[in-house]
Amino acid sequence: MLVCPLTLELLLTDSPAEQKGQPLTPQTSKTSSVPLKKCEPIDDERTVTPQRLKWELHCRKSSMNSSAEVVVIKVFPSSVVSNPKMSWIREGELNLLERISANILMAGPMPKHVAFIMDGNRRFAHKKNMERHDGHMQGFNKLAETLLWCKHLNIPEVTVYAFSIENFKRSKEEVDGLMELARQKFEKLLEEQENLEKHGVCVRVLGDLNMLPLDLQQVIAKAVIMTKNHNKCFLNVCFAYTSRYEITNAVREMASGVEQGLIKASDVSEALLSECLYSNNSPNPDLLIRTSGEVRLSDFLLWQTSHSCLVFQSVLWPEYSFWNLCEAVVQYQLNHKSIQKARELHLEEQALQQLEADCACVAEHLQHQGNGKPADAQRRQEALRHYTTAREARVQDFLQSLKRKRDSFFTDLCSETVLT
Ligand code: FPP
Ligand code: MG
Repeated sequence: MLVCPLTLELLLTDSPAEQKGQPLTPQTSKTSSVPLKKCEPIDDERTVTPQRLKWELHCRKSSMNSSAEVVVIKVFPSSVVSNPKMSWIREGELNLLERISANILMAGPMPKHVAFIMDGNRRFAHKKNMERHDGHMQGFNKLAETLLWCKHLNIPEVTVYAFSIENFKRSKEEVDGLMELARQKFEKLLEEQENLEKHGVCVRVLGDLNMLPLDLQQVIAKAVIMTKNHNKCFLNVCFAYTSRYEITNAVREMASGVEQGLIKASDVSEALLSECLYSNNSPNPDLLIRTSGEVRLSDFLLWQTSHSCLVFQSVLWPEYSFWNLCEAVVQYQLNHKSIQKARELHLEEQALQQLEADCACVAEHLQHQGNGKPADAQRRQEALRHYTTAREARVQDFLQSLKRKRDSFFTDLCSETVLT
């Protein structure tokens, strides 16, 4: 008896070459000139016994009216089943070896925020002789599995690149398939309210939702609103996202703030720009992982990862394992000290820049007031304190108004008027 739950896909073939005893792999079947008759996979998770196998073969051959002599059986572990009902939230424990390794790893500094470029779904599909869309489905399943590993490793925040604005240039079939996958998965998320609450999962979607079909925008908005007060772990799904678009959008928001008189041009700073990004609610990622051997950031979190540990791994995303994640965390730990140092230096530099900018504004103001006469040190100090307090209040008001605008985008999407 096969011990773990499996999914089977049966391929029937009449190929004479294969009947003559050549190895029966999906690859040999694919290269033969005889078309395969593909059956639906067995997609439940019952344990497969030899008796059940025989029975499935019998039923499927007769239902396809096939005279095939040869049957190729592709067997996938249940973790990679293309099941639209597969959840984002997995339950389950690590095995003993994984638990021991996790504990050793967690004795060192752990990343609190990990970002993933989940690359290699289509290459995986090609390698396994599957449909492209199944590669993406399995990519989703791997995401759910990875979130469970992150939970066991006490990593409370994960950001994933699920759909780049560049991905709109792919074939209509693939784009539609990815939209449908997202629709199914966000609908599934809505059904899991209790579980999300139990685990305190807050799901955010970063990107320009206007680029998406309206029904998908609405289901995303519902999921985001439903989980917005959860605060134990955070999943940021970058969808219709690129970093340059995000930065440009942030610059536009600041320009519009200046135009409306909410902020002054001199209030524009690195720190303010960070607050205007879609990612403003999250700390910067400590670790960014890209799979599939590509060594580019592909317009993902360019602003946020200047002091992150970047790890490029050759494994294709659907084949990502707990051990791959551990290896990336070890890379982070080896670089932790220098990352921390660089971050501290950068923060100091940012504070200094802000102080210099405030001093320059105050000096100009005092010069104007005193008709060019220099002010004494005490007066300069007082004016600086006053100016800094006023600037901080102005910036906070501006950010509040930006937050209200963004929140109402989501609430409007869920409101009756848009739904009808
Ligand atoms: C990159 O692999 C992957 C994508 C463009 C899509 C990623 C999407 C998922 C993993 C599903 C997540 C879905 C939700 C709803 C969060 P690729 O297509 O570039 O593959 P390749 O590099 O082998 O060509
Ligand atoms: Mg790719």
